[in-house]
Amino acid sequence: MHIGILTSGGDCPGLNAVIRGAVIKGTRIHDRSFVGIRDGWRGLVEDDCFPLKRKRVRGLSGMGGTILGTSRTNPYEGGGPERVREVMARNDMDSLIAIGGEGTLTAARRLADEGIHVVGVPKTIDNDLSATDYTFGFDTAVSIATESIDRLRTTAEAHHRCMVVEVMGRHVGWIALHAGLASGAHAILIPEVATTLDQITEWVLEAQRRGRAPVVVVAEGFVLDGEEEAVAQHGLDAFGRPRLGGVAQRLAPMIEDATGIETRQMTLGHLQRGGSPTAYDRVLATRFGVGAIDAVVAEQWGTMVALDGIDIATVSLTDAVGTLKTVPRARYDEAAILFG
Ligand code: F6P
Repeated sequence: MHIGILTSGGDCPGLNAVIRGAVIKGTRIHDRSFVGIRDGWRGLVEDDCFPLKRKRVRGLSGMGGTILGTSRTNPYEGGGPERVREVMARNDMDSLIAIGGEGTLTAARRLADEGIHVVGVPKTIDNDLSATDYTFGFDTAVSIATESIDRLRTTAEAHHRCMVVEVMGRHVGWIALHAGLASGAHAILIPEVATTLDQITEWVLEAQRRGRAPVVVVAEGFVLDGEEEAVAQHGLDAFGRPRLGGVAQRLAPMIEDATGIETRQMTLGHLQRGGSPTAYDRVLATRFGVGAIDAVVAEQWGTMVALDGIDIATVSLTDAVGTLKTVPRARYDEAAILFG
């Protein structure tokens, strides 16, 4: 019998390293074989699977994207557990490794509750899964954002401008906090901390008084204190993000009007998820892949691999989903001492 592997939800640097780690340890140590499932749960409900041989994963640890492809399909909208069982049986699969974020892991937990043999691997550049200390992809996203902010700073300095840089993070501000700290931002704005335009103006003007080109780093899910009514009016998108347009686009003219400093903005977007993972993410992702195979062999169904300090552990999928890991106020305050 084979082990099925799928990657689901938004892609994330390190997915291929997970697949490689799982397939190499599974074939070499446990004498197991694998089936690759294309485009996440879609491939499972539509029976789009192929034999995933060891030679296919050669040299994959540094490759971005996912060789399996991904989608945001929910298996419960495509036939549910009955269909999943049928396709698994047709492809001689006795178990599944599902690599994904909150949505994928929630579906995996439901399937595990129905008796399907599933092990989860956490994946998100946002680092917002509460049951693991870190997720792979986060370090890469922070590195790309930091380098980009460093570059935007030099052009802002040349023109004596203010620069507003939007990074990913629809519910939490981990990328903004880390990239902002690493690049010496003069203000960091995150969904967890209500901030007024007056406060932002103060930080920006303070930076200018000290002869700096003010840099404001903002997480995409940030809503300015006072914008609540507009948010309620426009509603939220499928991800729970306010349909107000990009936050950097909204903030830049407000900051320019309030400070009188010419202000430009940039949304880094999917650049943060593209390309090669950092060494840290390659190592973490490989360890997650190896840990997932160990969990399959130990028949720890309904669990997810996680980073606990420096160790790879398993936690129950029930504990792993449902609560987002937000930035603690103390972590934000520690950074805010450096603003302005
Ligand atoms: O979950 C990671 C994430 O990168 C979020 O920060 C962002 O809102 C979302 O994915 C964007 O995903 P998509 O690929 O659907 O545009």
